[in-house]
Amino acid sequence: MAKVQMGPGTSIYPMPTLLVGANVDGRPNFMTVAWGNIANAEPPMVTVAIRGSRHTHKGIEQNRTFSVNIPSADLVKETDYCGIASGAKVDKVKDCQFTVFYGKLDTAPMIEQCPVNIECSVLHSLELGSHTLYVGRIEEVHVSSDCLTDGRIDLDKIKPLAYLGDPSRQYHGIGKLQGKGFSIGLEIKGKK
Ligand SMILES: Cc1cc2nc3c(=O)[nH]c(=O)nc-3n(C[C@H](O)[C@H](O)[C@H](O)COP(=O)(O)O)c2cc1C
Repeated sequence: MAKVQMGPGTSIYPMPTLLVGANVDGRPNFMTVAWGNIANAEPPMVTVAIRGSRHTHKGIEQNRTFSVNIPSADLVKETDYCGIASGAKVDKVKDCQFTVFYGKLDTAPMIEQCPVNIECSVLHSLELGSHTLYVGRIEEVHVSSDCLTDGRIDLDKIKPLAYLGDPSRQYHGIGKLQGKGFSIGLEIKGKK
């Protein structure tokens, strides 16, 4: 099959849709982040890539803490707003009517309306060029009790958003089941 070279670009699809929180000058602020991921299991760590010009970047530098909040699909409007408005100019907590709470860390604000909230302390920061890659150690994970089934996180209840970057710039819900992980591949493994 013919391949077209598109040039080097950030072409991984889909990405998660996250709201990263930080206290900036003592006030909670949240920004939308698609460039975030799990980075380590033991101890648990995440990474978020934040452009130096973001108001949130200032707050992470001030306190060396941040939060990662997973919005559900019913927060898509608020989520996008947090990605097109800056806390340097507006109060996003007020505009989105977020209820802010704190856990183990005094300076990692979290959003009660988001079903999953992860509080992190910065272990490493790496200046990559346009963005700072923060590696955060996960200090605690908070999950809304109504998003658990038999004590386990239930994705059907969390309804996370996947983000497709340029050119479509779309938020999507989770699509239909295509197969079970660590399982469907056994159909090939079993043939050997
Ligand atoms: C879907 C989406 C994903 C985004 N992902 C990132 C990201 O990963 N890193 C980043 O620095 N900015 C990202 N942005 C842009 C910031 O969220 C945006 O500049 C925001 O206004 C920054 O807010 P702040 O100045 O209050 O920190 C994203 C925006 C959108 C809409």
